[in-house]
Amino acid sequence: MKIDVFLSAKNIEELFFNERTVVVIDVLRATSTIITALNNGAKEIIPVDSVEFAIKVSGNAFGGKTILAGERDTKKVDGFTLGNSPLEFSPEAVEGKSIIFFTTNGSEAIVKSKFAKNLFLVSFANLDAVANRLIKLKQDIIILCAGSNGKFSLEDTVCAGKLISSINDLYSEIDLTDAAKASVALNKSFGKSIKKMLTESEHGQLLIQNGFTDDLIYCSQVNVTSAIPYFHSGTITLLDNTGKRVNEQQGK
Ligand code: MLT
Repeated sequence: MKIDVFLSAKNIEELFFNERTVVVIDVLRATSTIITALNNGAKEIIPVDSVEFAIKVSGNAFGGKTILAGERDTKKVDGFTLGNSPLEFSPEAVEGKSIIFFTTNGSEAIVKSKFAKNLFLVSFANLDAVANRLIKLKQDIIILCAGSNGKFSLEDTVCAGKLISSINDLYSEIDLTDAAKASVALNKSFGKSIKKMLTESEHGQLLIQNGFTDDLIYCSQVNVTSAIPYFHSGTITLLDNTGKRVNEQQGK
């Protein structure tokens, strides 16, 4: 199993991901928020790569039961119901809802990977659950860090390194690219205190300045859920541990 890590989604042609197995990471905060929303009963997340497109599909699409969520410069987009703080995505706010979701880097990375054969979403919260699924698939993996406007993000890369270590704990036949090896090394040095690393990261500092300190504490939790968010045909839902889409099983 070959594992590569891309440090940002910018400058990658979307067809590159065609037929590949991809894991998108945006710890602060898009993938942490998606995991929370699905765990709290959201029916599905529909990632989009622009606010304009979010508004366009929100009308009568998806049975009229959509809500708009997302951020610009970390703050809720004007006119949207929710921002991008995972703490806003409570069961009361999201149960049964299709959530159209735009964020600056995270949703863009997901949309860019839409032609992948398998597309998983990871944050620190669900590393082991996704690692187990990836081991069962036994395919080469690209870990796509959302990064920050085309630049490297410490928190996404440390999370990529931790995911690789979780895979390697259970499965030794892995072959790492240089970027994957560097991610593992970064996790060894910065991954000992996730909360400290998030607090000191550039995006963490911006979130603190903008009043989202509690989000950093929330997003620093490691392996607190078995959720496996999976993108298929334009929407993200959860997989169960046999790899089936949970909503499909329930006939939704
Ligand atoms: C992003 O996609 O850039 C982030 O999730 C930004 C944020 O912290 O809201």
